[in-house]
Amino acid sequence: MPTYTLPDLQYDYGSLEPHISGKIMELHHDKHHAGYVKGANETIEKLDQARDKEDFTRLGALEKALSFHLSGHVLHSLFWQNLTPKGGGRPDGKLGEALKRDFGNFDKFRRQLTETASSIMGSGWAALVWEPLGGRLLTTQIYDHQSNLSQGGIPILVLDAWEHAFYLQYQNRKTEFFEAVWNLWNWKDVAERFRSVADLDVSLAGAAR
Ligand SMILES: [Fe+2]
Repeated sequence: MPTYTLPDLQYDYGSLEPHISGKIMELHHDKHHAGYVKGANETIEKLDQARDKEDFTRLGALEKALSFHLSGHVLHSLFWQNLTPKGGGRPDGKLGEALKRDFGNFDKFRRQLTETASSIMGSGWAALVWEPLGGRLLTTQIYDHQSNLSQGGIPILVLDAWEHAFYLQYQNRKTEFFEAVWNLWNWKDVAERFRSVADLDVSLAGAAR
């Protein structure tokens, strides 16, 4: 029985136009994201077989594959929900206040996240994460889907910086794509995610001020 499933989009492929073309959304969801779901399920199956055979000779490669595919699945599932055809603007309430506290103001946060995406070398993501140890928001540059992470951080907003996310429409002008996405952010979704993680206690007393 497969563990992971490809979630449906909550909007039509073409509904994020002109910022993201329908063709990109269709390929991105139905081919790329689906591939990570398939890869994660296949790797889980191979781990089951390795335990059955008591043969762990390929365990290192399987752990790498699971990390890659499962992280790809998580990040894409989150990215789709972070976007909405009626998005954009800026958040108020507790999320708006936390962005102001941790980045100075919304425009500085916007600039930092866009730069985080633009300066990725190769494939990766820019993310806004809640860091529970220090109790603050941070931006994070994720290489591929799984590397360069600070442990404990929980992504609440992610921006796909892989070429498959924009190349059909924007070619090498990736910063134009990163700017266009600011018309699509679903701040209601991000604020709900922030609410659900902001009180998380990781029980590491004395490890942060
Ligand atoms: Fe992607």
